[in-house]
Amino acid sequence: MIRAASLARWPSVFTFLAFFVIAGCSSMGTADAESRVVLVAGATGGTGRALVNNLTADGYTVRALVRDEKKARAVLGDSISYAVGDVRNVDTLVSAMQGATYVISAIGSTRADPSNNPEAVDYAGVRNMATAAERTGIRQFVLVSSSGVTQKDHFLNKAFDNVLIWKLKGEDALRDSGVPYTIVRPGGLVNTPGGEQALVFAQGDTSTGRISREYVSLICIAALNQPGAINRTF
Ligand SMILES: NC(=O)c1ccc[n+]([C@@H]2O[C@H](COP(=O)([O-])OP(=O)(O)OC[C@H]3O[C@@H](n4cnc5c(N)ncnc54)[C@H](OP(=O)(O)O)[C@@H]3O)[C@@H](O)[C@H]2O)c1
Repeated sequence: MIRAASLARWPSVFTFLAFFVIAGCSSMGTADAESRVVLVAGATGGTGRALVNNLTADGYTVRALVRDEKKARAVLGDSISYAVGDVRNVDTLVSAMQGATYVISAIGSTRADPSNNPEAVDYAGVRNMATAAERTGIRQFVLVSSSGVTQKDHFLNKAFDNVLIWKLKGEDALRDSGVPYTIVRPGGLVNTPGGEQALVFAQGDTSTGRISREYVSLICIAALNQPGAINRTF
């Protein structure tokens, strides 16, 4: 459960958590969730680093899925554990998820590396993680996706190898896997602090707004172990 200190700092996240409860939660998460192991995929990225910091602050045990452990340690330090893997290789993911309770993924494809393209990472990589999560009995898989994934004509599809179309296929693979999931679809990500902002609840994939990576990380963490957030796309 997200800590009271975090709620005081982040009123919007508190509202989001309240939404999970209203949305169908029969009981709140229990305190022992804080001692459970969270595998963070994409831990070296912008959102991933915020996830590692905020999960650690909330008392979770963090295991970072990284491609290059030396590079990752230089960024994330020695207070967490590491599993070396690549989302394009399902065997590495099964090893990385052994003994983990939750998976939060903030992976994303790389423009500079054609072999690490949206089809291979945002679709097949997510599908591989869902397969590994199913095999290892992961209790909940939280996926950072994107707003706009249902809009085939979105400019990002033209700009970057149909990235949003592949992201939707990745979402679908997770939904079809049978693993309990929560999918979060943020708008444009920024590194500036979120500050206190109004939350807008609306239906449909129409958001054009921006959100801080910090807030996205807190929303993902707030969803852990919340029955109202299971098998939902926000
Ligand atoms: N940028 C935006 O405005 C925006 C808007 C909406 C949604 N999103 C989505 O939000 C998520 C997080 O975005 P971000 O900008 O915070 O991420 P980011 O900084 O681009 O980080 C991406 C992460 O994915 C990892 N990764 C890439 N390929 C991998 C592979 N084959 N196997 C394992 N790990 C791999 C990278 O690890 P390495 O260090 O090894 O490269 C890195 O840790 C992404 O899914 C992104 O598409 C972004």
